[in-house]
Amino acid sequence: MRTALCDEFGIDYPIFAFTPSEHVAAAVSRAGGLGVLGCVRFNDTEELERVLTWLDDNTDGKPYGVDIVMPMKIPTEGTSLDLGAMIPEEHKKFVDETLLKLGVPPLPEGEGREGVLGWLHSVARSHLDVALRHRPVLIANALGSPPVDVIEKCHEHGIKVAALAGAAKHALSHVANGVDIIVAQGYEAGGHTGEVASMVLTPDIVDAVGPDVPVLGAGGIGSGRQVAASLALGAQGVWTGSIWLGTEEYRNLASNQGWETAFTRATSSDTVRTRIYTGKPARLLKTKWTEAWAEADAPEPLPMPLQNLLVAEAHNRINASHDPDVISMPIGQIVGRMNSVRPVAEVVASLVAEYDEAVGRLETYRK
Ligand SMILES: Cc1cc2nc3c(=O)[nH]c(=O)nc-3n(C[C@H](O)[C@H](O)[C@H](O)COP(=O)(O)O)c2cc1C
Repeated sequence: MRTALCDEFGIDYPIFAFTPSEHVAAAVSRAGGLGVLGCVRFNDTEELERVLTWLDDNTDGKPYGVDIVMPMKIPTEGTSLDLGAMIPEEHKKFVDETLLKLGVPPLPEGEGREGVLGWLHSVARSHLDVALRHRPVLIANALGSPPVDVIEKCHEHGIKVAALAGAAKHALSHVANGVDIIVAQGYEAGGHTGEVASMVLTPDIVDAVGPDVPVLGAGGIGSGRQVAASLALGAQGVWTGSIWLGTEEYRNLASNQGWETAFTRATSSDTVRTRIYTGKPARLLKTKWTEAWAEADAPEPLPMPLQNLLVAEAHNRINASHDPDVISMPIGQIVGRMNSVRPVAEVVASLVAEYDEAVGRLETYRK
């Protein structure tokens, strides 16, 4: 499993792993892939500074990447306080009543009320400034191209820029803005996702951007067979997210028995694409919480960034309750195959072994 991206980044396998956990990112990089740390959760840049220092010290000198979120269409400034004033009372009432109905207890006084601010450009820029003091080899951006000055700044530091795309026209606009690598993120994926499935999207984007722009296939990749399929569709590597939630290292970030019960029992039909997490369509585990928002009396989700501020405390309450029936979490359709929790190195090794087996099998079909 070697493509030109392996030489470009000095990695053994073109397996890129998006993860909010520095422990997972470090373990993927040490295992020969490229761990990419998601920064959106860091409202506090000092914490990000500490985490990236830890990553520098725990990757055995191997490369890693950083993911920021600078949406193309969103208010660019604001604080949780003044944005909070824009949230309608009707929405707050719905959230309170739904939590009551679902039996989710309140948090102890003073805990867990802050929402994610990492998708405000001012905050994402501060993430970038911190990252540039460390040694990422890749900066990735979700929800559009990062602004051109951000791309140029990365290039000045010798850092490649990747951006996620859910349609060929978005990939072309990323390339026109100077993005180096396109992540073709299919409908199956966890988190923000478009409407075209990977089987169609990957070759669409590969053909649209042409042979000089590497494409990573994303969405629904959880086995070596799926890696082989993605490379067969023209990708030069894969970009994965959901499978790393089912690893021992991820427990350092979110030790939650309810969550593990929920995803190990879920089938590939147990996800839903909805705007209730952030205001933009994102794939989540289907639970009583997502179902409550699908009821006829539920309000329309608010636009980004208001929706996440609205549900931030609810998410923290739900997570603290450890109730697998209510949990709120982005995850892709690959959840149906995530039936156990394994060390990251074992997941990487099995992707590589299954890939070899799949390619070997295809080779026999040529005879
Ligand atoms: C829990 C979770 C959080 C995510 N958050 C982000 C994010 O902050 N930035 C981003 O670029 N992608 C994010 N994604 C999407 C991943 O980068 C990746 O594209 C996706 O998980 C690939 O599809 P898969 O889930 O089928 O592997 C997230 C995915 C998951 C599962």
